[in-house]
Parts: sequence; structure tokens; C-alpha cells
Amino acid sequence: ATVVYDFNVSWITANPDGLAERPVIGINNQWPPPRIDVQVGDRLIVNLHNSLGDEDTSLHFHGLFMNGSNHMDGPVMVTQCPIPPGASFTYNFTVDQPGTYWYHSHNKGQYPDGFRGPLVIHDPKAPFEYDEELVLTVSDWYHDRMSLLQPRFMSKYNPTGAEPVPKSALMNDTQNLTMPMVPDRTYLFRIANIGAFAGQYIWVEDHTITVVEMDGVYVHPTETNMVYVAAAQRCSFLLTAKKETSRNFPIIASMDTTLFDTIPPGLNTNVTSYLLYNPTAPLPLPTPLDSLTPLDDTLLFPQDNLTTLPSPDQTITLNVTMNNLASGANYAFFNDITYVPPRVPTLYTVLSSPNSSSSQDMDLTTNPSIYGTYTHPFILSHNSIVQIVLNNLDSGRHPFHLHGHQFQILHRSGADEGTWSPSSSSSSSTSSFSTSNGSNHTAPMRRDTLVVEPNGNAVIRFQADNPGVWLFHCHIEWHMISGLAVTFIEAPSVLQQTINLPADHLAACRDRQDPIPFE
Ligand code: C2O
Repeated sequence: ATVVYDFNVSWITANPDGLAERPVIGINNQWPPPRIDVQVGDRLIVNLHNSLGDEDTSLHFHGLFMNGSNHMDGPVMVTQCPIPPGASFTYNFTVDQPGTYWYHSHNKGQYPDGFRGPLVIHDPKAPFEYDEELVLTVSDWYHDRMSLLQPRFMSKYNPTGAEPVPKSALMNDTQNLTMPMVPDRTYLFRIANIGAFAGQYIWVEDHTITVVEMDGVYVHPTETNMVYVAAAQRCSFLLTAKKETSRNFPIIASMDTTLFDTIPPGLNTNVTSYLLYNPTAPLPLPTPLDSLTPLDDTLLFPQDNLTTLPSPDQTITLNVTMNNLASGANYAFFNDITYVPPRVPTLYTVLSSPNSSSSQDMDLTTNPSIYGTYTHPFILSHNSIVQIVLNNLDSGRHPFHLHGHQFQILHRSGADEGTWSPSSSSSSSTSSFSTSNGSNHTAPMRRDTLVVEPNGNAVIRFQADNPGVWLFHCHIEWHMISGLAVTFIEAPSVLQQTINLPADHLAACRDRQDPIPFE
């Protein structure tokens, strides 16, 4: 089927935590933004009209492969020009993967202003059963517009790069959520962290939860009491309602305060919603926990038992640091390069480059400056196996996200274990990698966003089977703004033969200072 959404995007006011009314980016004069619901195999069309007046925009569909539709991926100056005020722009692509996703603006630091919402791809063939589904977003929340927070954050007056601390946490963009429960019914909870910064610990009092999906990857059902869902990650679990209906139970999302430089007095770092069994019974306060011990996502196994990919054809080591530049402001770096958006979308540069054979692709690798040195481009050859070694030399957790792919997690260290060294894992034999707690995988977990621990490391692997220009970045919006991103240019010659840019995409570039290379 073809599913069409018309999104007229404009500023409206909202007060989701009851503490401050503020301008938010609404869709069709509503906020929270609507959920997008499609089914595997559908064509999704989103007709976006920018009525913001004072800001450009764009839309990214987080976690979707966009196979054959790289130009619909949404990141500004990567696969498109920003959509100027007054302009319209159509996203049109097929969805051929099941699971829980979300959409968000991918223009500068815009999505924390509220332009983000859940996207569910329903699957009649899902390998688990349930009676009803509940979609639950969790998010941190700010009271000021990004246009105010962002320049302060990226200034010499913030030399340590301290990220603004959120004012509150939300579930389904409110703090007053109750979910009526039917006794004995099995619910599929689809959780998406659509926040800008904080990871969230999530638990349900006095209920066991069974994790069945993460980031669109079905996993062998795994029971737990708590999950950690970092910014941009998703997790689905089954929960069977109790038979007995005398009490109501809290479901809590608690912001990961280790990410915050300070915890302002009075900040409520939790949001509590309720499984409502009995509307006349009280809503009990949550029981404080001594420790937060969530399920380790690297210990999950994908349902499809896809084994470790063969030895990599290309290994890219990325060292993460934070440092001040001459302006005094703090920036983030992969291998001493802080990402700066190019003046022409990287995809458009690829499409207008001389028709490249694979030997010319090689040439581009040795001469990446044609895509702008500060976009930090890596050329990936078609269908090659790519391994990324992430060494987090920073003292914070980072949720790293790869566009257009799910990657295998071959290794993730604990905090403070330093950089990855091949001798500490069996790097060349591909059969198994040890995880931090020693178990061996032959079918490693896959996802599209992975948390790397402070001063820790991780090794991920994927096949470059999806021609496109794909960003790889930290999904903490503050770190994205600070330049923690690289560009993967995957199979450029195939891309040149498959992508045709629609007129509205080219029109978005029209009034820009730098002409696009086609005209
Ligand atoms: Cu959720 Cu670059 O994306």
C-alpha cells in the first residue's frame, strides 16, 4: 500500500511538563507530532511544507535503510539542501524492514524543539505474539529554544563543552500518562528514546519484561527487569498484564545523570507513568532502587542467527576526543577532525563527479578533499565488509549511530578499558569475539545505535551493500553540533547510476550561495 502523510510544519506552543509554556515545532498545528504507522512493504510518502517562517528544516527517518533512496534520507548538507521557509519537499520511499523507529529533523540542532516522533513498521510475520501494542516515547525536555541554547553551548563562555541539562523527562510527551491494562492480556511495548541527550533507564514495577526487538532487529526473547535506551535507540518488550486488578503499577523512565555535568537542585530526573489496572485505586509513588542494572544489549542474539560477517576488507579506526579550538569553544573530534557541513550536499557532489570506475573510487579515497576535508569522508567499495573500531577517549558515554545500516557488534568494552587492541580479542579469526563479560557470540547482536562507554571501545562490522552517502555520528544532539560525525560514501559509482533527484530536491538548493553542481 501507499501511505501518505501531509506535514505542515510550524511553531506552536506547548507545555508538556507543566513547568513552562514554550514554542515547539508542531505538525498540522498539533504537538506532540503524530505517529507514522506503515506496514512492511509499504511505500511511505511524507509531503512536508515548511511554515516555520524563521528556520529551514528537513526530515530523517531514523534507522530506515533507504535502499535505492539515499536522497530521501534527510540529513542536511549530506543528502539534501535544507528546506527553506515556504518551500515544500516530498519524501517518498519504500519500507522493507519491520520494527520500531522514529523520525526527526536532521537540520542543525533542530529536533529537540519538538520536531520528532515515533514511526512503527508493522509486521504481520513478527516472530512473537501479543494482543495489543503500546507505543511509548521517552525524551528529555528543554524549556528554551535551540536557537538560544545552541550558540551559548558552542561559545567560548562554555569552554568545557558542558551540555545544557534537560529540565525534565517525558513519556509520550507528557508527565501524566496512564495506560489502561486488561487483565491477562499480553502487550507489546514499543519504546523509542526520541530525546536529544539523556539515555533512559526503563523499568516496570513488579512485572517481568521480555525483550523481543531492538532497533528493528528481532532478538531471541530475553527476560529482564530493566532496559537502558540511549538517545535514538529503540527497544520492544512483551509484558503480560496481571490477572488481579486491585493495584496500579509505575513504569519509570530515569535519565542517565552520569551524562550531566551538574544536576541542578530540584531537577526531577524521572518520569513515572502507570499501568492502570484499577482507575479507582491510587497511583503509588515508585519504589526507589539502590542500583540500576539494565540488560546488556550486546548479550542479545538476533532471531535470524546471522553469523559474524567475514574478515573486513577495510578497517576504520575512529578515536573520539573533545577539545577547544582557537575560538575557545569546545568541539568534538573523530581522529582530530571535527565535522563541518559542506557547502553543497555530499550526495550531490558524488552525483556530479565524473563517472567513476572502481579505480577512480580508489582515487577518491586518496583525495577525499573533493567532498570537503571537514566532512571527513571515507569511500566504501560496494559489498565490501567494513569494520569500525571506536576508541572513546572521552569521559562521557556516546550513542553512535550509522545511517542506512544495522551493524554487528563484535566487541564492546566496559568503561575505562582504554583503546581496542587486536590481541585482547580474536580479531583475525572471525568466528567469535569475546564481549566484556566473556561470552562468545557467533551470531552477534546488530543494531543501528550503540553506546560506547567512557574511555572504552567497541568494534562494529557491516557490509557496504547499500549504496549511499551515510552519516556516522554521536546521536547526542550537542555532540552532533560539536562535530562528532564522519561521512561514509558507499559505492559512489553505483549511486551515480541509481539516483535521480526530483525537482523539489533541487529547488531547495536554489537560493543558496553555493550553486549546486548540476546547473
Ligand atoms: Cu537519528 Cu543522523 O540520525
